[in-house]
Amino acid sequence: MKKARIGFDVGRKIGKIDDRIYGSFIEHLGRAVYTGIYEPKHPQADKKGFRKDVAEAVRQLRVPIIRYPGGNFVSGYNWEDGVGPVEKRPRRLELAWRTVEPNEVGIHEFADWCESVGSDIMMAVNLGTRGMDDARRLYEYCNFEGGTALSDLRIRNGRKKPFGIKVWCLGNEMDGEWQMGHKTAYEYGRLAAETSKLLKLIDRDVETVACGSSNRDMPTYKHWEREVLEQCYDVVDYLSLHQYYGPNHVDNDHRSYLTLADNMDAFIREVVEICDEVGAKKHSDKKIHLSFDEWNVWYHSNEQDKAIRPWQIAPPQLEDIYNFEDAVLLATMMNTLINRCDRVKIACLAQLVNVIAPIMTQPGGGLFRQTIYYPYYYASVYGRGEALRAEIDGPTYDCARFTGAQALHVSGVRNGNELFVMLVNRGGEDTDVTIAVDGATVVSVTECSVLQHTDRLAVNSFENPDCVAPRASSAKTEKEGVRLVAPSESVHFVRLALR
Ligand code: AHR
Repeated sequence: MKKARIGFDVGRKIGKIDDRIYGSFIEHLGRAVYTGIYEPKHPQADKKGFRKDVAEAVRQLRVPIIRYPGGNFVSGYNWEDGVGPVEKRPRRLELAWRTVEPNEVGIHEFADWCESVGSDIMMAVNLGTRGMDDARRLYEYCNFEGGTALSDLRIRNGRKKPFGIKVWCLGNEMDGEWQMGHKTAYEYGRLAAETSKLLKLIDRDVETVACGSSNRDMPTYKHWEREVLEQCYDVVDYLSLHQYYGPNHVDNDHRSYLTLADNMDAFIREVVEICDEVGAKKHSDKKIHLSFDEWNVWYHSNEQDKAIRPWQIAPPQLEDIYNFEDAVLLATMMNTLINRCDRVKIACLAQLVNVIAPIMTQPGGGLFRQTIYYPYYYASVYGRGEALRAEIDGPTYDCARFTGAQALHVSGVRNGNELFVMLVNRGGEDTDVTIAVDGATVVSVTECSVLQHTDRLAVNSFENPDCVAPRASSAKTEKEGVRLVAPSESVHFVRLALR
């Protein structure tokens, strides 16, 4: 069997993790809201129509922040349609996903739900069909104490206390020609600067996110980041990155697919370089941080979605059913965000319920947790604290798209007397791994669980919800460190008690 050593040193820190890297995303798209989190006729619905079982599954994930209401949806959204008496709210054509939006859920309902699951809102404003005036009006409606037309309207609509939304996205994927109100980098950079300026005039503490590229393969990638930042560097706080992967990125080569977190890592590195280059050019002391506010695997539903009839309410769009290998890739993507926590301060797994999501629901029925739920769950629950640098001395492999990829992919997070390690063996060989911790003594192994399946295409379903789920594994504490066998293609969740 191959051997490997993973070395941590409690003094070698990457940085303190901002909890918001474990954020997620809910868009008015498909069944994310309607028959996802909200289904008034469901036997488990609460007084406000939200499913208690779904809320509980979300609560378990300890999602710190949820991006809302889109996505592409936001670029055509009139937020006023979603406030006031529900029976008076209009139905609207929703052009991003070609559906009908009933507006039964709007900012009030969503904010109440977020409070009930313990999450903050990351609000996106419409810079597509609308603009900066709409953004400042929405901000005043949501966050101003009272005594102005819009804040008083909020109070009359039943919410005395402001929503207190701190993070605001300045539009969505404005580089994409599919986006309603798509713009050039210069046009968008100017608009982002002016919109952010208005929000900061109302509240100096607001944090704003400018749109970066929709993915690393965009033809305007890098030019977009440079030009947008040239225009808005001084007045925004974060630049966004979005990225979804599928085997189609690597000509369906399985080994290359499992290596795609390296592509994500390079994306982050390149965007950091551009941010710092623009900052240096401007002689600025300020650092722009990153908001990786859409990331996931997305490809399973592409074909089936082509057959969906347009102009329905909440059709089953983007309902990817994730298999075991997707969870392996997702774990390495999560590791990448942890290992880049010095610059990535916000990240949103896109999305949360039904739409490319870790949680799937059946209208009127139950729910199940997808394979990708588990790496996200473990990282979010146990990965709070300081990320430590990992030295990996282990096997590498070559595949169609990459050479010299590390078979082991790992992150380590110290939280007081606990070190949480998410260890992925994405290589083709079982490996005998020793995890060594310098600067502290490993007293015991609190937990060692493994996500593994003999069939890389295995999935969970309503009938078989635990087909791919973590199970207890074993790790021994030895003189050199904690020793375990990481089978080929497996994800280990290891919690070590330190002294
Ligand atoms: O998350 C699904 C979609 O992916 C979002 O609406 C959009 O921003 C991205 O292209």
